[in-house]
Amino acid sequence: MANFAPPPGTADIFAAEARRWRNLENTAASVFSRYGYGELRTPIFEYTEVFQRGLGGETEVVQKEMYTFEDRGGRSLTLRPEGTAGVMRALSNTDVMNGVEQRVYYCGPMFRGERPAAGRRRQFHQVGVENVGRVAPLIDAECISMLMEFLAEIGIHDAKLAINTRGVATDRGPAGELLRDYFGRHIDCMCDDCRVRLERNVWRILDCKQEGCRRIIADAPDYVASFSTESCTYFDEVKAALSALGVPFTVDPLLVRGLDYYVHTVFEVSHSGLGAQTAIAGGGRYELFLPGQNRPVPGVGFAAGMERLMMVQDALGMADAPEAGVPVYLIGLGAAARLENLKLADALRRDGLPVGLELEERSFKAQLRGANKSGAAYAVVRGEAELERQVVVIKTMATGEQREVSVAGLASEIMKLVRGNESVTLG
Ligand code: HAM
Repeated sequence: MANFAPPPGTADIFAAEARRWRNLENTAASVFSRYGYGELRTPIFEYTEVFQRGLGGETEVVQKEMYTFEDRGGRSLTLRPEGTAGVMRALSNTDVMNGVEQRVYYCGPMFRGERPAAGRRRQFHQVGVENVGRVAPLIDAECISMLMEFLAEIGIHDAKLAINTRGVATDRGPAGELLRDYFGRHIDCMCDDCRVRLERNVWRILDCKQEGCRRIIADAPDYVASFSTESCTYFDEVKAALSALGVPFTVDPLLVRGLDYYVHTVFEVSHSGLGAQTAIAGGGRYELFLPGQNRPVPGVGFAAGMERLMMVQDALGMADAPEAGVPVYLIGLGAAARLENLKLADALRRDGLPVGLELEERSFKAQLRGANKSGAAYAVVRGEAELERQVVVIKTMATGEQREVSVAGLASEIMKLVRGNESVTLG
């Protein structure tokens, strides 16, 4: 067999796996719609400035990971690295600017040029939500609680929720000063990237993954204590609401998230079954500038990585039941029998019965192998002799037992047989 793999960091998803994806998407849709969220499908690519402005020019994603290209008119386009900025671009065309709350969810592929590893892809898939237009600690808590509810419904009950606050924009100056002063004193022992971060955006240092840097980061000053009363009260109310809802969490002062649009609440959900890539979902409250608007629009939301959710399900031993095969397989010898089989398959499928059959000229033995492979409970066999006598042979695959049946009323006879057999699952 030719070995022609898809590009690194991407994957082909075949039927058995695709069914798991559909299940996740359906559960997401069902949970989120209970909370009033409707689906929004935005384009896979956007004008580059939607992400540059939305995510912040200093973020790792914008600086290093975007797939950017020019359209025929020379305008810069980018494959979406995440969902929030495109959703906000789409909502800028609605009445969200007039204070109308919008609750939307989305799912689909996202693209980041990261180094591929287990749980880290260049094309990955997210399910996510955005609650846009309103600001209240209770909305943040409701959103987080919905994420935990979704995880529980897909069988992930033991995920860990970490939360933190990024404060409001005016808190960042004094807190940033505190951090700059501390890291400035230790920068000689830190990585090259952190040196640049110290100059350009000190907050990014907090999510550096280098071992040596992590040790210094662990002793960083408690910058949250310097935040305004407004920010601290907001955060206290989020925590109180989560406790009231019975959602367990820990506060992680090092959690700042990789995108620049966050204010107030940020959160991340991790699971020990994932290995190095522990985040299965992340999100927070944000303020994002919509195209053509000079004041930011507030929202809160999250996205979960579908590949990572499935990795956790695998680690929890939640393999799906194998796909049920077709209940009936039609075997035809000779062109006329094949055509009759095609007509019979058509009638049965219209009645809702999954049917397998061989339409190319193959030997009886090869077709029987096909029937076995398909998992069919029954094979319907006919050749020229049966055609002439207006009959077919129905073979029970498990026992090898055969009986002749007249073609008159054959479709309803097969339906009766299959529906009366409890070992057959119909899709
Ligand atoms: P994010 O933390 O960048 O947030 O991504 C959310 C989730 O997507 C991660 O927790 C992870 O499960 C998954 N993910 C990210 N990158 C990869 C990758 N390369 N391979 C596999 N999975 C990945 C956002 O994207 C924000 N837009 C979330 C949000 C919505 N914030 C507010 N609203």
